[in-house]
Amino acid sequence: MSKSHYQAPRGTRDILPSEAGTWRWVLNSFADLAKRFGYGQVISPMFEDAGVFLRLGENTEVVSKEMFTFQDKDPKTPQDLALRPELTASICRAFAQHRPITPWKVWYEGPQFRYEKPQAGRFRQFVQVGAEIIGENDPASDVEIISLAWRFYETIGLKHISLLLNSLGDVETRELYNQELLSYLSKNAKGLSEESRDTLAKNPLRVLDSKRKEDLQIIAGAPTIQEFLTDDDKEHFESVRDGLKLLGIPFTVSPRLVRGLDYYTRTTFEFIADKLETAQNAVGGGGRYDGLVEELGGPPTQGIGFALGVDRILLACEAEKLELKNEMPLDAFVVDLTGGSHASQITDELRANGLGADRCFGSRSIKAQMKVADRSGALYAIIVGDDELEKNEVTLRDLRGDGSQEHVPRSDLVKALTASIKERYPQ
Ligand code: HAM
Repeated sequence: MSKSHYQAPRGTRDILPSEAGTWRWVLNSFADLAKRFGYGQVISPMFEDAGVFLRLGENTEVVSKEMFTFQDKDPKTPQDLALRPELTASICRAFAQHRPITPWKVWYEGPQFRYEKPQAGRFRQFVQVGAEIIGENDPASDVEIISLAWRFYETIGLKHISLLLNSLGDVETRELYNQELLSYLSKNAKGLSEESRDTLAKNPLRVLDSKRKEDLQIIAGAPTIQEFLTDDDKEHFESVRDGLKLLGIPFTVSPRLVRGLDYYTRTTFEFIADKLETAQNAVGGGGRYDGLVEELGGPPTQGIGFALGVDRILLACEAEKLELKNEMPLDAFVVDLTGGSHASQITDELRANGLGADRCFGSRSIKAQMKVADRSGALYAIIVGDDELEKNEVTLRDLRGDGSQEHVPRSDLVKALTASIKERYPQ
C-alpha cells in the first residue's frame, strides 16, 4: 500500500481507535472525579483574542515564541486571535465576562496548542484536563485543588508520582525577590550557560528552571523566595501543608520550583512522574493566580487551579507498565452464518440494552468471522447457524476466558449474556 504524502503536521498526531478507548477512559475518569468534587464543566473556545494570553506574561516562552496567532478575516474588526496555549486565561476571561457566583469551581478538558520543538512527550497539540477555583482565598481551597489532581493519578493507578510544592508569595514579594535574584545571577552571569544569560535578561526566575550542568551550581547558591515571604504568605503556606498532611498526600517543599507561566502567586506545585525522563516528566502543575482575573478586566478575585498533560500521563502509565482500562470494551461479536439479518437484529437488541456489540458485513466463512470477532476484543461470540435457528437458540462462546460455550434460548440472550459478563468479567 503506498503511503499518502500528507502526514499529520509536525508535533501533532492521530490517536487511532486502538488507543482512543483508553484516552476516553482516562478523560471520563477525570470528569467523574471532578463532578464528585463538586466542579462543573466549562467548554470554552479553542481560540481567543490574543490579548487574553498576553496576560500570561510577555516574557514567558509560551507567549513570546509559542503562540499560534492569526488575523480575524473581517476587515471591520481586525483582531489578533490565538489558539489557546492553556486554559486558565480563558477561564478567567469567562469569569470576568459572565460574573458567576463565587467560589466558581470548574473543570475542563481539551487540546492546547504551543509551537514547541517537538520531542518525546512534547507536542504542538496536546490534551490537558484541569480544574480551577475562582474567588476563594481559603488555603483549604488550595488543598482541595491539589487533592483532586492527586486522587486522579491514584484513580488511574499511577504509583510513582511526586508532588513538589512551593510558595511564591504575593506580587510585591515576587517583585522584591526578582530584583534580588537578578542581582545575584548578574554577579554570576559569567559562569552561566549562554541560554541562561539570555533568559536572565528577560525573566530571572526562569533561570532557576534550567537543567544545564554549568547552571546548576550557581542556581544552588541563589537566594530562595522563602526568605522573602510575608507573615501572611507563610501562614497560608503552612495551612496548605497541614491540610495536605491531614489528607495523607505526600509532598516535598521545593523552594526553587518555578513555573513556565508568569501569573502565579503564593502556592505553586508540580507533579513529576518519577519513571519518565526529566525533559517530559512534568505530568501536571498549577498554583494560585490572585491577580489574573483583574488583569482580564474582572474585579479583584483570587484563583487557584491546575492542568495535567494527558499525553504525558499516558506515557507515565506505559513507563509504570499499567494495564489501562478501555472506555467500553465490546461485550459481544455476532457471528451470523445465515446471511446477516440475525446479526442486524441481535446487535440492535444488545445495543438497545446498553451492551457493546459488533458484527461482520458481507457473507464470510465462520473461520473468517471468528477471526474478526477475536481481533475485536469482544468478551463473547454469539454464533447463529442453521442448527441454532432451527432450535430457536444461539451459541454463546467465551472468547477471553476458557473458550467454553453454551446454548441459550434466543429470547433469553440479553439476560444470559448480562449474567455471564457479571459472573466472569466483574468490573
Ligand atoms: P503548564 O505547566 O504549562 O500549566 O501545563 C500543564 C501540563 O500540561 C504540564 O505539566 C504537562 O504535563 C502538559 N504540557 C504542557 N506543555 C506540553 C506539551 N508541549 N506537550 C505535552 N504536554 C504538555 C498550565 O497550562 C496552567 N494553565 C496550569 C494551571 C491551571 N495553573 C493554574 N491553573
